[in-house]
Amino acid sequence: MTSPYKISERLLAVQILGSLLQQHGSLAGLLDNNTLAKVQSPALLQELCYGVCRWYPRLQFYLQQLLDKPLRSKDLDVQCLLLVSLYQLLFMRTPDHATVNESVAAVETLGKSWAKALVNAVLRKAQREQADLNALAERDYSVWYAHPEWLLNQLKKDWPQDYRTLLDGNNQRAPMTLRVNARQATREQALGLLTSAGVAVKPGALSPYSLYLAQPMDAVVIPGFVEGLVSVQDEASQLVASLLPLATNLRVLDACAAPGGKTCALLEAEPTLQVLALDNEARRLPRITQNLERLGLYAEVRCADITRTPSAEFGHFDRILLDVPCSATGVIRRHPDIKVLRTPAEVENLVQKQRALLESAWPLLNAGGYLLYSTCSLLKAENSKQILQFLSAHADAEHIALEVAGTLACDAGIQLPPQTGGPDGFFYALLRKSLD
Ligand SMILES: C[S@@+](CC[C@H](N)C(=O)[O-])C[C@H]1O[C@@H](n2cnc3c(N)ncnc32)[C@H](O)[C@@H]1O
Repeated sequence: MTSPYKISERLLAVQILGSLLQQHGSLAGLLDNNTLAKVQSPALLQELCYGVCRWYPRLQFYLQQLLDKPLRSKDLDVQCLLLVSLYQLLFMRTPDHATVNESVAAVETLGKSWAKALVNAVLRKAQREQADLNALAERDYSVWYAHPEWLLNQLKKDWPQDYRTLLDGNNQRAPMTLRVNARQATREQALGLLTSAGVAVKPGALSPYSLYLAQPMDAVVIPGFVEGLVSVQDEASQLVASLLPLATNLRVLDACAAPGGKTCALLEAEPTLQVLALDNEARRLPRITQNLERLGLYAEVRCADITRTPSAEFGHFDRILLDVPCSATGVIRRHPDIKVLRTPAEVENLVQKQRALLESAWPLLNAGGYLLYSTCSLLKAENSKQILQFLSAHADAEHIALEVAGTLACDAGIQLPPQTGGPDGFFYALLRKSLD
Protein backbone atom coordinates (compact mmCIF):
# COMPACT_ATOMS: atom_id res chain seq x y z
CA MET A 1 0.00 0.00 0.00
CA THR A 2 1.38 3.41 -0.87
CA SER A 3 1.64 6.06 1.86
CA PRO A 4 -1.02 8.80 1.77
CA TYR A 5 1.78 11.26 2.65
CA LYS A 6 3.41 12.95 -0.31
CA ILE A 7 6.76 13.67 1.24
CA SER A 8 9.09 12.34 3.94
CA GLU A 9 9.85 14.35 7.08
CA ARG A 10 13.51 14.52 6.00
CA LEU A 11 12.79 15.99 2.57
CA LEU A 12 10.27 18.51 3.89
CA ALA A 13 12.75 19.55 6.60
CA VAL A 14 15.33 20.09 3.83
CA GLN A 15 12.88 22.36 1.95
CA ILE A 16 11.94 24.32 5.07
CA LEU A 17 15.52 24.82 6.21
CA GLY A 18 16.47 25.86 2.67
CA SER A 19 13.78 28.59 2.75
CA LEU A 20 14.89 29.70 6.19
CA LEU A 21 18.58 29.92 5.23
CA GLN A 22 17.55 32.09 2.28
CA GLN A 23 15.72 34.36 4.75
CA HIS A 24 12.30 33.38 3.40
CA GLY A 25 10.12 33.23 6.51
CA SER A 26 10.44 32.00 10.08
CA LEU A 27 10.20 28.46 11.46
CA ALA A 28 6.81 29.10 13.07
CA GLY A 29 5.48 30.48 9.76
CA LEU A 30 7.02 27.77 7.59
CA LEU A 31 5.77 24.99 9.88
CA ASP A 32 2.10 25.96 9.74
CA ASN A 33 -0.70 23.39 10.09
CA ASN A 34 -0.97 22.82 6.32
CA THR A 35 2.72 21.97 6.13
CA LEU A 36 2.62 19.73 9.18
CA ALA A 37 -0.32 17.84 7.65
CA LYS A 38 1.86 16.79 4.69
CA VAL A 39 3.90 14.27 6.70
CA GLN A 40 3.16 11.16 8.70
CA SER A 41 4.97 12.45 11.80
CA PRO A 42 4.61 16.22 12.31
CA ALA A 43 6.52 15.81 15.59
CA LEU A 44 9.54 14.39 13.74
CA LEU A 45 9.41 17.18 11.16
CA GLN A 46 9.38 19.77 13.96
CA GLU A 47 12.17 18.00 15.81
CA LEU A 48 14.39 18.03 12.71
CA CYS A 49 13.73 21.70 11.85
CA TYR A 50 13.94 23.05 15.40
CA GLY A 51 16.90 20.83 16.26
CA VAL A 52 18.94 21.92 13.23
CA CYS A 53 18.26 25.60 14.04
CA ARG A 54 19.08 25.10 17.73
CA TRP A 55 22.47 23.61 16.88
CA TYR A 56 23.02 25.32 13.51
CA PRO A 57 26.35 27.06 14.27
CA ARG A 58 27.76 23.78 15.65
CA LEU A 59 26.37 21.65 12.81
CA GLN A 60 27.76 24.08 10.22
CA PHE A 61 31.15 23.83 11.88
CA TYR A 62 31.04 20.01 11.76
CA LEU A 63 30.07 20.17 8.11
CA GLN A 64 32.98 22.47 7.28
CA GLN A 65 35.34 20.02 8.96
CA LEU A 66 33.86 17.06 7.13
CA LEU A 67 33.77 18.48 3.60
CA ASP A 68 36.94 18.74 1.48
CA LYS A 69 35.57 21.87 -0.14
CA PRO A 70 32.45 23.97 0.49
CA LEU A 71 29.26 23.10 -1.38
CA ARG A 72 28.12 25.48 -4.14
CA SER A 73 25.26 27.84 -3.29
CA LYS A 74 23.04 26.02 -5.83
CA ASP A 75 23.48 22.88 -3.72
CA LEU A 76 21.83 24.38 -0.65
CA ASP A 77 19.47 21.39 -0.63
CA VAL A 78 22.38 18.97 -0.25
CA GLN A 79 23.78 21.16 2.52
CA CYS A 80 20.43 21.13 4.35
CA LEU A 81 20.15 17.36 3.91
CA LEU A 82 23.59 16.96 5.48
CA LEU A 83 22.66 19.29 8.37
CA VAL A 84 19.48 17.30 9.06
CA SER A 85 21.37 14.02 8.91
CA LEU A 86 24.21 15.27 11.13
CA TYR A 87 21.60 16.43 13.64
CA GLN A 88 20.09 12.95 13.64
CA LEU A 89 23.46 11.24 13.95
CA LEU A 90 24.91 13.47 16.64
CA PHE A 91 21.91 14.72 18.65
CA MET A 92 19.10 12.18 18.20
CA ARG A 93 18.76 8.51 18.92
CA THR A 94 17.95 7.52 15.35
CA PRO A 95 19.94 4.37 14.47
CA ASP A 96 22.99 5.48 12.48
CA HIS A 97 22.54 3.04 9.59
CA ALA A 98 18.95 4.26 9.04
CA THR A 99 20.09 7.90 8.94
CA VAL A 100 22.87 7.17 6.46
CA ASN A 101 20.76 4.94 4.20
CA GLU A 102 17.77 7.28 4.12
CA SER A 103 19.95 10.33 3.51
CA VAL A 104 21.71 8.70 0.59
CA ALA A 105 18.33 7.68 -0.84
CA ALA A 106 17.02 11.24 -0.38
CA VAL A 107 19.81 12.58 -2.59
CA GLU A 108 18.21 10.71 -5.50
CA THR A 109 14.83 12.37 -4.84
CA LEU A 110 16.53 15.76 -4.85
CA GLY A 111 17.74 14.93 -8.35
CA LYS A 112 21.37 15.14 -7.26
CA SER A 113 22.67 11.60 -7.80
CA TRP A 114 26.21 12.96 -8.08
CA ALA A 115 26.06 13.73 -4.31
CA LYS A 116 25.31 10.15 -3.19
CA ALA A 117 28.92 9.21 -2.56
CA LEU A 118 29.58 12.56 -0.93
CA VAL A 119 26.65 12.27 1.51
CA ASN A 120 27.61 8.71 2.34
CA ALA A 121 31.25 9.65 2.94
CA VAL A 122 30.47 12.72 5.06
CA LEU A 123 28.04 10.89 7.32
CA ARG A 124 30.29 7.88 7.81
CA LYS A 125 33.22 10.17 8.62
CA ALA A 126 31.02 12.02 11.15
CA GLN A 127 30.25 8.69 12.85
CA ARG A 128 33.92 7.72 12.98
CA GLU A 129 35.30 11.09 14.03
CA GLN A 130 32.61 12.24 16.44
CA ALA A 131 34.97 12.54 19.43
CA ASP A 132 37.56 14.53 17.45
CA LEU A 133 34.87 16.82 16.06
CA ASN A 134 33.56 17.54 19.55
CA ALA A 135 37.05 18.24 20.85
CA LEU A 136 37.55 20.80 18.06
CA ALA A 137 34.12 22.37 18.64
CA GLU A 138 34.78 22.80 22.36
CA ARG A 139 37.64 25.20 21.59
CA ASP A 140 35.31 27.86 20.22
CA TYR A 141 32.39 29.02 22.40
CA SER A 142 30.41 30.31 19.42
CA VAL A 143 30.53 26.80 17.95
CA TRP A 144 30.15 24.86 21.18
CA TYR A 145 27.25 26.91 22.52
CA ALA A 146 25.84 27.21 19.00
CA HIS A 147 25.26 30.97 18.97
CA PRO A 148 26.28 33.34 16.15
CA GLU A 149 29.50 35.12 17.02
CA TRP A 150 27.99 38.64 17.20
CA LEU A 151 25.37 37.45 19.71
CA LEU A 152 27.83 35.49 21.80
CA ASN A 153 30.16 38.51 21.96
CA GLN A 154 27.31 40.83 22.94
CA LEU A 155 26.06 38.50 25.65
CA LYS A 156 29.60 38.11 26.96
CA LYS A 157 30.02 41.88 27.05
CA ASP A 158 26.66 42.45 28.74
CA TRP A 159 26.87 39.54 31.19
CA PRO A 160 30.55 38.70 31.79
CA GLN A 161 29.70 36.54 34.83
CA ASP A 162 26.55 34.89 33.54
CA TYR A 163 26.78 34.64 29.77
CA ARG A 164 27.48 30.90 29.70
CA THR A 165 24.39 30.24 31.82
CA LEU A 166 22.39 32.32 29.33
CA LEU A 167 23.85 30.46 26.34
CA ASP A 168 23.05 27.14 28.02
CA GLY A 169 19.53 28.31 28.84
CA ASN A 170 18.95 29.27 25.21
CA ASN A 171 19.83 25.73 24.11
CA GLN A 172 17.35 23.94 26.38
CA ARG A 173 13.84 22.96 25.36
CA ALA A 174 11.20 25.33 26.70
CA PRO A 175 8.50 23.97 28.99
CA MET A 176 4.81 24.48 28.29
CA THR A 177 3.22 26.70 30.92
CA LEU A 178 -0.38 27.52 31.68
CA ARG A 179 -1.88 30.61 33.27
CA VAL A 180 -4.92 29.84 35.39
CA ASN A 181 -7.79 32.28 34.86
CA ALA A 182 -8.35 33.66 38.37
CA ARG A 183 -11.91 34.63 37.29
CA GLN A 184 -12.77 30.95 37.01
CA ALA A 185 -10.66 29.09 39.56
CA THR A 186 -7.78 29.22 41.99
CA ARG A 187 -4.54 27.64 40.87
CA GLU A 188 -5.12 24.78 43.34
CA GLN A 189 -8.57 24.09 41.91
CA ALA A 190 -7.22 24.08 38.35
CA LEU A 191 -4.36 21.81 39.40
CA GLY A 192 -6.86 19.37 40.95
CA LEU A 193 -9.05 19.40 37.84
CA LEU A 194 -6.17 18.85 35.45
CA THR A 195 -4.61 16.13 37.59
CA SER A 196 -7.88 14.23 37.86
CA ALA A 197 -8.22 14.48 34.06
CA GLY A 198 -4.81 12.77 33.77
CA VAL A 199 -2.77 15.88 32.89
CA ALA A 200 0.34 16.14 35.09
CA VAL A 201 1.09 19.75 36.15
CA LYS A 202 3.01 21.48 38.89
CA PRO A 203 2.86 25.08 40.15
CA GLY A 204 5.53 27.61 39.15
CA ALA A 205 7.55 29.48 41.76
CA LEU A 206 7.14 33.05 40.46
CA SER A 207 3.65 33.70 39.14
CA PRO A 208 0.74 32.74 41.44
CA TYR A 209 -1.25 31.72 38.33
CA SER A 210 1.32 29.42 36.72
CA LEU A 211 1.16 25.67 36.14
CA TYR A 212 3.89 23.77 34.30
CA LEU A 213 2.80 20.83 32.16
CA ALA A 214 4.96 17.70 32.52
CA GLN A 215 4.45 17.05 28.78
CA PRO A 216 3.59 19.62 26.10
CA MET A 217 0.23 19.03 24.43
CA ASP A 218 -2.11 20.69 21.95
CA ALA A 219 -3.69 23.67 23.75
CA VAL A 220 -7.21 22.86 22.55
CA VAL A 221 -7.21 19.41 24.16
CA ILE A 222 -6.16 20.72 27.59
CA PRO A 223 -9.20 20.26 29.85
CA GLY A 224 -10.76 23.67 30.44
CA PHE A 225 -8.79 25.49 27.73
CA VAL A 226 -11.72 26.05 25.37
CA GLU A 227 -13.89 27.13 28.31
CA GLY A 228 -11.31 29.76 29.35
CA LEU A 229 -10.04 28.09 32.53
CA VAL A 230 -6.42 28.22 31.36
CA SER A 231 -4.26 29.90 28.72
CA VAL A 232 -0.84 28.99 27.39
CA GLN A 233 1.65 31.61 28.54
CA ASP A 234 5.20 31.49 29.80
CA GLU A 235 5.62 32.24 33.50
CA ALA A 236 7.84 35.28 32.84
CA SER A 237 5.07 36.86 30.74
CA GLN A 238 2.52 36.12 33.44
CA LEU A 239 4.53 38.22 35.89
CA VAL A 240 3.14 41.36 34.27
CA ALA A 241 0.06 41.03 36.49
CA SER A 242 2.21 40.90 39.63
CA LEU A 243 4.64 43.68 38.67
CA LEU A 244 2.30 46.43 37.43
CA PRO A 245 0.55 47.83 40.54
CA LEU A 246 -3.17 47.22 39.92
CA ALA A 247 -6.32 48.60 41.59
CA THR A 248 -10.00 48.74 40.68
CA ASN A 249 -11.26 50.77 37.71
CA LEU A 250 -7.87 52.05 36.56
CA ARG A 251 -7.57 53.19 32.95
CA VAL A 252 -4.84 51.04 31.36
CA LEU A 253 -3.08 51.26 28.00
CA ASP A 254 -1.54 48.10 26.59
CA ALA A 255 0.33 49.81 23.78
CA CYS A 256 1.80 46.73 22.03
CA ALA A 257 -0.91 44.23 22.79
CA ALA A 258 -1.16 41.51 20.14
CA PRO A 259 -1.83 38.62 20.53
CA GLY A 260 -3.16 39.79 23.86
CA GLY A 261 -1.48 37.43 26.33
CA LYS A 262 -0.60 40.19 28.75
CA THR A 263 -3.85 42.14 28.21
CA CYS A 264 -5.70 39.03 29.36
CA ALA A 265 -3.32 38.36 32.27
CA LEU A 266 -3.96 41.90 33.57
CA LEU A 267 -7.73 41.61 33.22
CA GLU A 268 -7.85 38.21 34.91
CA ALA A 269 -5.96 39.69 37.87
CA GLU A 270 -8.18 42.81 38.01
CA PRO A 271 -11.33 42.58 35.83
CA THR A 272 -12.50 46.15 36.58
CA LEU A 273 -9.57 47.62 34.62
CA GLN A 274 -10.61 49.72 31.62
CA VAL A 275 -8.09 48.51 29.09
CA LEU A 276 -7.31 49.95 25.67
CA ALA A 277 -5.36 47.29 23.76
CA LEU A 278 -3.47 48.71 20.77
CA ASP A 279 -1.34 47.14 18.12
CA ASN A 280 -0.17 48.60 14.84
CA GLU A 281 -0.51 45.30 12.94
CA ALA A 282 -4.14 44.91 11.91
CA ARG A 283 -3.73 41.21 11.06
CA ARG A 284 -2.70 40.49 14.67
CA LEU A 285 -5.74 42.14 16.28
CA PRO A 286 -8.25 39.26 15.85
CA ARG A 287 -6.04 37.13 18.11
CA ILE A 288 -6.53 39.66 20.93
CA THR A 289 -10.29 39.58 20.49
CA GLN A 290 -10.39 35.77 20.30
CA ASN A 291 -8.38 35.47 23.52
CA LEU A 292 -10.58 37.99 25.33
CA GLU A 293 -13.73 36.20 24.19
CA ARG A 294 -12.52 32.74 25.18
CA LEU A 295 -11.63 34.03 28.65
CA GLY A 296 -14.83 36.06 29.13
CA LEU A 297 -12.93 39.37 29.42
CA TYR A 298 -13.41 42.78 27.85
CA ALA A 299 -10.98 45.39 26.49
CA GLU A 300 -11.28 48.00 23.75
CA VAL A 301 -9.12 46.74 20.88
CA ARG A 302 -7.78 49.19 18.29
CA CYS A 303 -5.28 49.21 15.47
CA ALA A 304 -2.96 52.17 16.05
CA ASP A 305 0.69 53.14 16.28
CA ILE A 306 1.24 55.45 19.25
CA THR A 307 4.39 56.83 17.64
CA ARG A 308 2.28 58.22 14.77
CA THR A 309 -1.09 58.99 16.35
CA PRO A 310 -1.79 62.33 18.05
CA SER A 311 -1.89 61.64 21.78
CA ALA A 312 -5.22 63.51 22.13
CA GLU A 313 -6.86 60.52 20.40
CA PHE A 314 -6.12 58.27 23.35
CA GLY A 315 -6.49 60.50 26.42
CA HIS A 316 -4.54 59.66 29.57
CA PHE A 317 -3.96 56.48 31.51
CA ASP A 318 -3.24 55.43 35.10
CA ARG A 319 -1.13 52.51 33.96
CA ILE A 320 0.74 51.74 30.74
CA LEU A 321 2.16 48.42 29.68
CA LEU A 322 4.84 48.75 27.02
CA ASP A 323 5.68 45.21 25.93
CA VAL A 324 7.85 46.34 23.05
CA PRO A 325 9.00 44.46 19.94
CA CYS A 326 12.52 43.17 20.64
CA SER A 327 15.31 40.84 19.53
CA ALA A 328 13.60 37.92 21.33
CA THR A 329 17.03 36.74 22.50
CA GLY A 330 15.40 35.60 25.76
CA VAL A 331 13.12 33.16 23.93
CA ILE A 332 15.66 31.55 21.59
CA ARG A 333 14.82 28.19 23.17
CA ARG A 334 11.28 28.60 21.74
CA HIS A 335 12.40 30.19 18.46
CA PRO A 336 15.87 28.80 17.69
CA ASP A 337 15.66 30.20 14.13
CA ILE A 338 16.56 33.54 15.76
CA LYS A 339 20.12 32.17 15.72
CA VAL A 340 19.93 31.94 11.95
CA LEU A 341 17.87 35.03 11.14
CA ARG A 342 18.62 37.86 13.60
CA THR A 343 21.28 40.45 12.70
CA PRO A 344 23.00 43.17 14.77
CA ALA A 345 21.50 45.81 12.43
CA GLU A 346 18.01 44.56 13.31
CA VAL A 347 18.78 44.89 17.01
CA GLU A 348 19.91 48.48 16.48
CA ASN A 349 16.63 49.22 14.63
CA LEU A 350 14.65 47.67 17.45
CA VAL A 351 16.47 49.80 20.03
CA GLN A 352 15.44 52.93 18.09
CA LYS A 353 11.85 51.70 17.82
CA GLN A 354 11.69 50.93 21.54
CA ARG A 355 13.01 54.41 22.32
CA ALA A 356 10.32 55.97 20.11
CA LEU A 357 7.62 53.88 21.80
CA LEU A 358 8.80 54.95 25.26
CA GLU A 359 8.88 58.61 24.20
CA SER A 360 5.36 58.41 22.73
CA ALA A 361 3.83 56.49 25.65
CA TRP A 362 5.22 58.62 28.48
CA PRO A 363 3.08 61.76 27.80
CA LEU A 364 -0.04 59.53 27.92
CA LEU A 365 0.62 58.58 31.55
CA ASN A 366 -1.15 60.43 34.37
CA ALA A 367 0.96 62.01 37.12
CA GLY A 368 1.49 59.37 39.81
CA GLY A 369 0.84 56.63 37.24
CA TYR A 370 3.05 53.62 36.46
CA LEU A 371 4.56 52.43 33.20
CA LEU A 372 5.83 48.86 32.98
CA TYR A 373 8.37 48.31 30.18
CA SER A 374 9.08 44.73 29.14
CA THR A 375 11.01 42.74 26.57
CA CYS A 376 11.87 39.09 25.98
CA SER A 377 15.46 40.16 25.28
CA LEU A 378 18.72 39.48 27.10
CA LEU A 379 20.54 42.45 25.57
CA LYS A 380 21.23 45.47 27.74
CA ALA A 381 20.83 47.91 24.84
CA GLU A 382 17.14 46.98 24.71
CA ASN A 383 16.76 46.68 28.47
CA SER A 384 18.61 48.39 31.34
CA LYS A 385 20.56 50.74 29.02
CA GLN A 386 17.35 51.75 27.29
CA ILE A 387 15.75 52.54 30.65
CA LEU A 388 18.78 54.37 32.02
CA GLN A 389 18.88 56.51 28.90
CA PHE A 390 15.17 57.30 29.28
CA LEU A 391 15.55 58.15 32.98
CA SER A 392 18.42 60.52 32.22
CA ALA A 393 16.23 62.41 29.73
CA HIS A 394 13.04 62.54 31.85
CA ALA A 395 13.23 64.22 35.21
CA ASP A 396 9.61 63.26 35.93
CA ALA A 397 10.37 59.52 35.63
CA GLU A 398 11.26 57.60 38.77
CA HIS A 399 12.67 54.10 38.65
CA ILE A 400 10.82 51.72 41.00
CA ALA A 401 12.81 48.67 42.11
CA LEU A 402 11.20 45.29 41.41
CA GLU A 403 11.91 42.07 43.21
CA VAL A 404 11.66 38.66 41.61
CA ALA A 405 13.65 35.58 42.67
CA GLY A 406 16.38 34.35 40.33
CA THR A 407 16.97 37.59 38.41
CA LEU A 408 20.44 38.81 37.37
CA ALA A 409 21.84 41.97 38.96
CA CYS A 410 20.97 44.98 36.76
CA ASP A 411 21.49 48.77 36.84
CA ALA A 412 17.79 49.34 36.14
CA GLY A 413 14.90 46.90 35.94
CA ILE A 414 15.14 43.14 36.43
CA GLN A 415 16.52 40.52 34.06
CA LEU A 416 15.19 36.99 34.22
CA PRO A 417 17.50 34.45 32.56
CA PRO A 418 15.89 31.58 30.61
CA GLN A 419 15.68 28.80 33.20
CA THR A 420 15.57 25.07 32.58
CA GLY A 421 12.03 23.94 33.35
CA GLY A 422 11.28 27.55 34.33
CA PRO A 423 10.53 30.96 32.82
CA ASP A 424 11.80 32.51 29.59
CA GLY A 425 14.47 35.20 29.50
CA PHE A 426 12.61 38.44 30.20
CA PHE A 427 13.23 42.02 31.26
CA TYR A 428 10.92 44.32 33.24
CA ALA A 429 11.37 47.90 34.40
CA LEU A 430 8.78 49.88 36.35
CA LEU A 431 8.66 53.68 36.07
CA ARG A 432 6.47 56.08 38.03
CA LYS A 433 5.56 59.57 36.85
CA SER A 434 6.13 62.15 39.56
CA LEU A 435 3.16 64.11 40.91
CA ASP A 436 4.43 67.64 40.21
C1 LIG B 1 6.23 41.57 22.03
S1 LIG B 1 4.87 41.74 21.00
C2 LIG B 1 3.56 41.99 22.15
C3 LIG B 1 3.08 40.74 22.82
C4 LIG B 1 1.84 40.98 23.67
N1 LIG B 1 2.03 42.06 24.62
C5 LIG B 1 1.42 39.75 24.42
O1 LIG B 1 1.80 39.57 25.57
O2 LIG B 1 0.69 38.93 23.84
C6 LIG B 1 5.08 43.35 20.36
C7 LIG B 1 3.89 43.85 19.58
O3 LIG B 1 4.13 45.22 19.32
C8 LIG B 1 3.49 45.55 18.10
N2 LIG B 1 4.06 46.83 17.65
C9 LIG B 1 5.25 47.07 17.08
N3 LIG B 1 5.42 48.38 16.85
C10 LIG B 1 4.29 48.99 17.30
C11 LIG B 1 3.85 50.34 17.33
N4 LIG B 1 4.62 51.30 16.84
N5 LIG B 1 2.63 50.62 17.86
C12 LIG B 1 1.85 49.59 18.33
N6 LIG B 1 2.22 48.30 18.33
C13 LIG B 1 3.43 48.01 17.82
C14 LIG B 1 3.79 44.36 17.22
O4 LIG B 1 2.86 44.28 16.17
C15 LIG B 1 3.68 43.21 18.22
O5 LIG B 1 2.39 42.65 18.17
